[in-house]
Amino acid sequence: MTSSTARECFVYITLPGSISAVTAGRFVLETTRTGDPLGRFVYGRSYLQNPKAVPIDPVELILATRTFETARLQGIFGALRDAGPDYWGRRVIEKHAVRTQLGEMDYLLESPDDRAGALGFGLSQVPPAPLRKFNKTIDLEKLQGLAEALMKDEIPDDPEAQQVQDLLLLGTSMGGARPKAVVQDEDGLWIAKFNRPDDRWNNTRVEHAMLRLARQCGINVAESRIENVAGRDVLLIKRFDREQIDAGYTRARMISGLTVLRAEEASEARTRWSYVLLAEELRRIVSEPKKDGRELFRRMCFNALISNLDDHPRNHAFIARAEDWALSPAYDLTPSPVVSQERRDLAMECGDLGRYANRKNILSQHVRFLLDQEEAEKIVDDMTSQVAKWYDTVRACGVLERDAETIRAAFVYPGFML
Ligand SMILES: Nc1ncnc2c1ncn2[C@@H]1O[C@H](COP(=O)(O)OP(=O)(O)OP(=O)(O)O)[C@@H](O)[C@H]1O
Ligand SMILES: [Mg+2]
Repeated sequence: MTSSTARECFVYITLPGSISAVTAGRFVLETTRTGDPLGRFVYGRSYLQNPKAVPIDPVELILATRTFETARLQGIFGALRDAGPDYWGRRVIEKHAVRTQLGEMDYLLESPDDRAGALGFGLSQVPPAPLRKFNKTIDLEKLQGLAEALMKDEIPDDPEAQQVQDLLLLGTSMGGARPKAVVQDEDGLWIAKFNRPDDRWNNTRVEHAMLRLARQCGINVAESRIENVAGRDVLLIKRFDREQIDAGYTRARMISGLTVLRAEEASEARTRWSYVLLAEELRRIVSEPKKDGRELFRRMCFNALISNLDDHPRNHAFIARAEDWALSPAYDLTPSPVVSQERRDLAMECGDLGRYANRKNILSQHVRFLLDQEEAEKIVDDMTSQVAKWYDTVRACGVLERDAETIRAAFVYPGFML
């Protein structure tokens, strides 16, 4: 540590095709004299000399010898923040932290190494050995019980308590707010998402059904399945950023839409939360802009048709398994059966009429998604007829009739066609 106002750590990266990490550089987070956070990052000289070195991300931390600086996102570079926990993972860390006041750097350093993407963080210049042991799918019952105890605030504020120790099993650096853990089976690594006691419908089954519906609409989605554990459904989503090989797991780099947009997370600074901007940005990053432009257009349209109003930029991601970047498979698709029949707004802007989840609005900027008018209209209209058949898909995925009725108002709401 350099002073009371600056903390630093090393940033590790698992290079394409490899299963263990190397040190990429050093990250310093300081509080300036005016009290604002400032992050600085430098690539290590030996990393820059490594012929296999790849940039941490394609927009900000490109391979160069300079010192990068950022004041956005509390001074944490987007790509580093994407590798850290969100609400859920932070809650787990807070339970077993001895310190009461945790800063952004603590969340990176204290979080387990099952994080999304290829990065890691630590205080030692030499990266630790890769994590080989993960929870098994047979542990799901225990994990579910722990997650529930944490949600119900039944876990004591005592780092020594057995239950708090056990929480380490749940501890995941995967982002997002819903309760989850990472588990392993013979096919590889999965994210297990649990229902919450206060869910209004069987969320895990509905999310599974939405992934299937999205696939029926031609969208590239993460593979998923439902496991019934002690009478409760758990959603397993195959991790698309890890691949199992004989010796261990290879890791893809992964960054969120938030990072690609160079956007802020706070609600008052959401001016760059936009599908249209994301389409522009992706053209600079991905190796197949036409393919990914069309894919992003499909996802925006799908989200509008199922009223997925929680489609914030962290629910979009880009991955690089080797050198090239591409849009990741789609994930976290949830319908919101809100009351308004006329106007619903997505979380991100989708056209000339702002965030309005509406056919005309979605079509208004088709050119930026590299689509001509006719192609764009065909996508929207085909998808509208497909989503109109949501009920069959949802029921085929085992969603109860009662739950299907509760979410009915989410699909192809009248305002979409106005
Ligand atoms: N199949 C996957 N493979 C790799 N990473 C994934 C996968 N699915 C999700 N992620 C990562 O995990 C994070 C959390 O997942 P997800 O969005 O499903 O959780 P959530 O708790 O429902 O999120 P939210 O807070 O948006 O409701 C995502 O933001 C993404 O970074
Ligand atoms: Mg999410």
